[in-house]
Parts: sequence; structure tokens; C-alpha cells
Amino acid sequence: MTEAAAPAAPAGRARPAAMPGLPYFGGIVRMRKDPIAYLGEASRQGPVVRLGRLGRRSFYQVNDPDLVRSVMTAPRADVGMTRTSDVLGALFGESVFTMQDEAWRKRRDELQPAFRTSNLPELFDSAAGEIALTVARFEPIADARGSVDCSAAMLDLLQRMIVRMMFGVAVPETAEQLTRAFDYGLEYRQRRRWALAGLPRWFPTPANRMFDEGVARLNASIAEIIEDYRAKPPERAGLLKMLMECRDEETGAGWTDDELLAEVKTTFVAGWLTTTTAATWLFDLLGRHPEIAARVEAELDSLPSDRPLVYDDLHALEYVEDTILEAMRLFPPGWLLSRRVRRTFTLGGHRLRRNAVLLVSPYALHRDPAHWNEPDRFDPGRFRDSTHGEAHKAAFLPFGYGPRVCIGRGVAMMELKLVVATLLRRFRFTLTDTAPAKLQPVSFLRRAEPLVLAIAPR
Ligand code: HEM
Repeated sequence: MTEAAAPAAPAGRARPAAMPGLPYFGGIVRMRKDPIAYLGEASRQGPVVRLGRLGRRSFYQVNDPDLVRSVMTAPRADVGMTRTSDVLGALFGESVFTMQDEAWRKRRDELQPAFRTSNLPELFDSAAGEIALTVARFEPIADARGSVDCSAAMLDLLQRMIVRMMFGVAVPETAEQLTRAFDYGLEYRQRRRWALAGLPRWFPTPANRMFDEGVARLNASIAEIIEDYRAKPPERAGLLKMLMECRDEETGAGWTDDELLAEVKTTFVAGWLTTTTAATWLFDLLGRHPEIAARVEAELDSLPSDRPLVYDDLHALEYVEDTILEAMRLFPPGWLLSRRVRRTFTLGGHRLRRNAVLLVSPYALHRDPAHWNEPDRFDPGRFRDSTHGEAHKAAFLPFGYGPRVCIGRGVAMMELKLVVATLLRRFRFTLTDTAPAKLQPVSFLRRAEPLVLAIAPR
């Protein structure tokens, strides 16, 4: 048993606060209906809160940033990932996202060079190659003072960007297949996520069969791309080439096709829907806050206007960066992180048994008035204002925290800056419906309804 660092924790075996609900099962079934409200309520009950039980697993929510840090940096023998056993494990295969222990460490070390900063300019050029199409589609609509479905445009743009960054070339048909398979896979996962007693994954229900067939089709189409890529590498290097160059440090051997397949699928999903969600919320917030959009425009106007953006321009975009971070504070795409206790673990003075599930809600932490001044206000300036209460790093975790922190955060920030900077240099966007947006917390924190923006040239 290990005692995690837990400042101001009561000693002994105090019981954590519990959410009201049925005896033994607690109130976690309520989470299915409105998880954001439920987790928000639970976040105010104490540093560690028992939510209840689903099947054989007890669920706890960790609300105190020091304890969040303890969970996210706990020794792997004590606290591990939950996703290996769930649908994502089946969808991705053995990838850096689903692996644990030494196998994960080795994979993460091998993968790291592909994501190093020196590769970003190359990836930038691929991503920038895709944005011209969005600009061309928007131009006539802006000239006619029309409106655009920004959610759909971001979904399409960021999918083209990740595919082009991955393969170095556009592969529209495969991208379409990837999209369909993942849409179904993620929806299927969502349906199973809170199921009290769903049939096991191996049971041949129509939904299980459809999922397995979808994964098989997806695997076959990516295997084909890898084969083509080997036979005739495209001119521009993409992440796939960088992954193909990954080597086992000891033996010098490259990856097998199965390993490449798993990482390609993981990068596609991890790098597409997350950035899409972030970009959509960002445009929603900019459409609601013209004064902040004007400050973004002012920063963009300091760049030379007679040429398209180049990678080095991004360094000057400090306010744009803060705006992106602030949008992810209010609407973190990864709204719920989970871990599993692997052997009895003491957290904040509470003894948690093996297989307990620990939930960390970036959404709740990012809006906790104990850590943020006026937490619901969209205020990009807060990140540069030292009088703000933004002191605790583990109270801000759009990209996670600790050793499993997002490996693609540099790529994500680069893409988001490129998208905002390119589009706001050309167009002005205004929200057509200013009613508060409804949230759809599925695998990512989506906007429930399409974001429609009025568009005009600048
Ligand atoms: C705005 C965009 C993004 C957000 C908000 C985001 C968020 C996150 C978060 C919260 C985690 C940690 C999950 C956990 O601890 O359970 C994570 C992990 C990960 N992300 Fe991202 N991500 C983004 C973009 C990307 C991109 C562009 C890529 C790749 C190109 C990527 C690849 C990954 C991978 C592979 C992991 C697993 C790392 C590991 O377990 O070692 N992400 N991401």
C-alpha cells in the first residue's frame, strides 16, 4: 500500500464525503442523465467524494488539485489507466493511449521524437495546405454576408489537417472511412460507458458485431495505406514517416505493421475530435465576445499582411495562445479523466480499494472559484495576470497532467493558432443565436447544436 502525498489530509481511514443516492450503489446512476451538473455538484462536496457503485466498481471524484496531482503522478503499480479494458482498447489496439507499465513507457519514449518541436514546421506546412480550401469556401459566403456552420467546417478542416499531417498527402476516401468507423466506435463506447450490466464485449449482439466489423474494415484500410506508403513514400514527410522511423532503443528494430496501425488510429482520433471540439468552442466564444475578437485581430494585424502565415509567425501570437487556452479552460474537450486503483491506495486520508475508479473532471476544476477568479468569465488576459488565482498547475489540465500528459499538445496548439489566425485575418464572425450553448459531454465535450456564425470579410 502506498500513501500518496495528501496535504492537510486527515489521518486514518476517514470515509470520504458521499453523493446522496441509494444505499450501497450511491448516486452515480444520476451521472448518466447530466454528467456535467452531477460532477459539478460532487466537486463541491469535498476533496475526495464517493459517487457510488456501478457493477463491482466504486467510483470516486477527486477535486483537490494536490490530490489530483497525486493521482496523476502516482506510481504505476498503484494507479493505472481504465481505458485498456474498455471499448477504446478494442478500437485502438495496443497503442500509447491504451498501454500501461513498461510497455507504455517504451512506446512513449519511441514516439516522443515524432512529436518534437523541430518537426512542427514540417507539420505546419501540411496543415496550412488544407486551410486554403476552407478560406475559398468561406469567401463567397462572406461576400454575400451569409452564415456558415462552423462546427461542420471545423470537423472537416481538422480532419483534413490531421490526415495530411499524418500521411503527408490528402487521402479523402480513407479519411471518410476513418471518420465513419470512429463515429460509430465512439458512440458505441458512450452507450456502454454508464451501462449498469451490459452484455460483455465478446457477446455477439448486433451492436458488438457491428463494432467488431467496423474495426476490422478500418484496420484493413489503414494497412493498405501503410503498404502503399512503403511502396511509394510521398514527397512530404508526415507523422507516419516519423513513426516509421521510430526505433527500439536497444535492438534498433523498427515497428511492426500492427504497432504502426495502432498508433495511426490513435493519432487520428486523439488529434482530430479534440482539436475540432476546441476550435468550435473557441469560435463560439469569439462570436460572443467581439471585444476579445478585436484584440485577437489587433495582434494578427501586427503580422505582415502581404503573404500567408509561416510557422515562425506563430511565436508572436501570445494573445491568440491565451485565447485558445482560455477557451479550453471553459470547455475542455477532455472533460473527464479516469484512473483505476491497482492496489490499495490512500488518498487524502481515505483508503481506496483495488479497482476503485478515480474520476478527475477538468471541467469542474477549471470552473472552481477556489482556483479561478470569476471562473465563468471568458478572460484570456487571466493567464498573464499574476494577481489572478491561477497558481495551481493541477487546477488547469486541458492536456492532462503528469507522465500521461497529451503527447500531441504542441501539434494541437500549432493547428489551433493556424486556424484562428488564418480565418480571423480574413473574416469577421458573429454569433447568430446568443442563447447559452448546450453541452454534449460524450467522449469529448461537444457543443450539442451546430454553431452557426454570420460571416463577413474584414
Ligand atoms: C485540443 C486538442 C487536444 C486536447 C484537448 C487533448 C487532450 C488530451 C488529454 C487530456 C490527454 C490525457 C488523457 C488522460 O490523462 O487520461 C491526452 C492524451 C493523449 N493525446 Fe491529446 N489532446 C489534444 C490533441 C492531441 C493531438 C493533436 C494528438 C496527436 C497528434 C494527441 C495525442 C494524444 C495521445 C497519443 C495521448 C495519450 C498519451 C499517453 O497516454 O501517453 N492529442 N490528450
